[in-house]
Amino acid sequence: MLNDQFGRQFNYLRLSITDVCNFSCTYCLPNGYQCDTPRNFLNKSEINTLVNAFAQLGTKKVRITGGEPCLRNDVTDIIKQCKNTPGIEKVAITTNGFNLFNKIDEFYNAGLDALNISIDSLNPSMFKLITGHDKLTHILKGIDRAIELGIKDIKINAVLAKQFNKNQLKDFLDWVKLKKVTVRFIELMETGNGAAFFEQNHLSGLSVKTQLLAQGWLQVVRGKLNGPAEEFCHPDFEGRIGLIMPYSKDFCKSCNRLRVSSLGKLHLCLFAEHGIDLRPHLNSQDTPATVNAIQAAMGNKTISHELDKRLTGATTHLAMLGG
Ligand code: GTP
Ligand code: 5AD
Ligand code: SF4
Repeated sequence: MLNDQFGRQFNYLRLSITDVCNFSCTYCLPNGYQCDTPRNFLNKSEINTLVNAFAQLGTKKVRITGGEPCLRNDVTDIIKQCKNTPGIEKVAITTNGFNLFNKIDEFYNAGLDALNISIDSLNPSMFKLITGHDKLTHILKGIDRAIELGIKDIKINAVLAKQFNKNQLKDFLDWVKLKKVTVRFIELMETGNGAAFFEQNHLSGLSVKTQLLAQGWLQVVRGKLNGPAEEFCHPDFEGRIGLIMPYSKDFCKSCNRLRVSSLGKLHLCLFAEHGIDLRPHLNSQDTPATVNAIQAAMGNKTISHELDKRLTGATTHLAMLGG
């Protein structure tokens, strides 16, 4: 198992397979995805070498992210390949859901275990304002199909921002009354190109926590290897509510994940600006060299992102690292 000098264990790989996205969320890519030169993302063979190397180091879960991973034609093959890698028990994807309804049966048959979908508002016009696309109803149909198929682990990501916070909690609470999904509110993180938006919109997740506890929600005890999110349940609700609060003091203590960008760089933290280039090893299908490079990098993992101390912005582009 991969571990670090602070006693954390890393059994979870977040793998970005593209940094292209077709949405233009206000806090992430307000002007849409822009890139002058064609990007040469990891191909299936490189991904195979990478996932095998991580699996040999004790990784049990792979989350496929983007940009928007469903924009790649071979996304289903990548899911299948990850699922068939010895040692990998769980394969998940994070998507904006634009193509979920058309793809979910295929993903399920390929072995997908878990699904995270970004929905910041259940109000269709607000959703369109945030993302630039009038797709909410279609995305919700995709989620219903995923539930129908029996996918157990379905989470909705809703970023907390003053600009679209009105009725956000109430609308999601009404929704999870009968929907067996977890809605996770995420504190807005400051990124290189989103400093002004952050300044105007950042909200602490603690106010949501206070409201939940006052309404009889109970905090769920989560295992050490389940990562930094907090989770709440209520006997009258089918679904759950979660909180991702990267600005809270102990957030990084339960870090369980490492990231690889769509160009093959290993990032020890979401906010680690410089990645370690694994691509030459992946390109030559050299699993042992990949294993060694990952192991050698672990000594450099820092104890915390110290987000609260660097409010002037990480230059990291979350779309490149899959959030
Ligand atoms: P699961 O626990 O597997 O559901 O994954 P997740 O919450 O990491 O997945 P997802 O891709 O849905 O990410 C949700 C949000 O959490 C995104 O906004 C991420 O940017 C944020 N996030 C995920 N991991 C980290 C992390 O290590 N540090 C910080 N600061 N934020 C993270
Ligand atoms: N702060 C918090 N969450 C963000 N995401 C993208 N950018 C940010 C940000 N600046 C979220 C998306 C998606 C997840 C992968 O990351 O909403 O659900
Ligand atoms: Fe771990 Fe970095 Fe995320 Fe903190 S920000 S939880 S150290 S990956």
